[in-house]
Amino acid sequence: MNQNELKKSLSKLELGDIRYFESIGSTNDEALAWAAADAPDLSLVIAEEQTAGRGRLDRKWFTPRGTALAFSLILRPSAEEKPHLSRTVGLAALAVAESLRTRGLAAQIKWPNDVLIHERKVCGILVESVWSGDEVDCVVLGIGVNVLKGSVPPADDLLFPATSLEEELGQPPDRVEVLSEILAAFLALRPRLISDELISLWQGLLAFHAKAVQVETGTTPPISGTFIGRDPVGRLRLLTAHGEIVTVRFGDVRLRPLT
Ligand code: ATP
Ligand code: BTN
Repeated sequence: MNQNELKKSLSKLELGDIRYFESIGSTNDEALAWAAADAPDLSLVIAEEQTAGRGRLDRKWFTPRGTALAFSLILRPSAEEKPHLSRTVGLAALAVAESLRTRGLAAQIKWPNDVLIHERKVCGILVESVWSGDEVDCVVLGIGVNVLKGSVPPADDLLFPATSLEEELGQPPDRVEVLSEILAAFLALRPRLISDELISLWQGLLAFHAKAVQVETGTTPPISGTFIGRDPVGRLRLLTAHGEIVTVRFGDVRLRPLT
């Protein structure tokens, strides 16, 4: 990816400033520090390689040089958006899934923060915040997409099967094009953050919907049931074998198909 070509392609989009790195620890760390300083809304940090890419709870996210997209988008939410920030992860997942679907890929959202194609993970999303007192000042949306085959970690390192866009499309897509499509989809969807329409769009793309799943929370024994979607604030809903509806909060939650 060439920095000038990147900036030229993205100049059509209404973004803030852009910071590009050949190699970085984690784009989210850079974005959090920049957000805490003076980053304008919709500023972007992007890197060719991450040496300390993170998933939730500091689990590792692999980003080998030149094979993937690893970027973080900084949002300075408006007063109107602030009550709805729990939906940001859904908004980002929807933007990625919708943009991949326009390429003909059957992308779905694995609640709460992954995008899958054919039940294999192609994208992970990590949302982090900068606080000012007891208010969120900025949100950092970290997005990792496996674009080329070389971005997919060895199966032994994975807790959930993974794939790449190259594998799914049968040819390698241009990384800058994929990035600008995702960002354009995000900009188009952002006004829906405050609307319940976002929930139905999200619900329509949920992987494993109406299927038997197991949810591991890390603190309670695994819960099994039929996945019946999510509620307006983003909690997962399961219908158990006893006919009870159980809701599970976003947190250290893992959703697995029961097959
Ligand atoms: P899961 O993917 O297990 O449902 P999760 O969404 O909580 O859980 P995290 O644990 O936050 O995922 O993400 C990190 C995990 O993603 C790592 O433990 C690793 O198994 C997996 N992983 C790391 N790099 C990649 C990658 N490039 N593509 C796909 N999966 C990856
Ligand atoms: C997950 O699957 O749980 C989240 C993975 C998020 C990875 C992205 S890559 C860009 C940004 N920088 C990071 O260190 N993590 C996110």
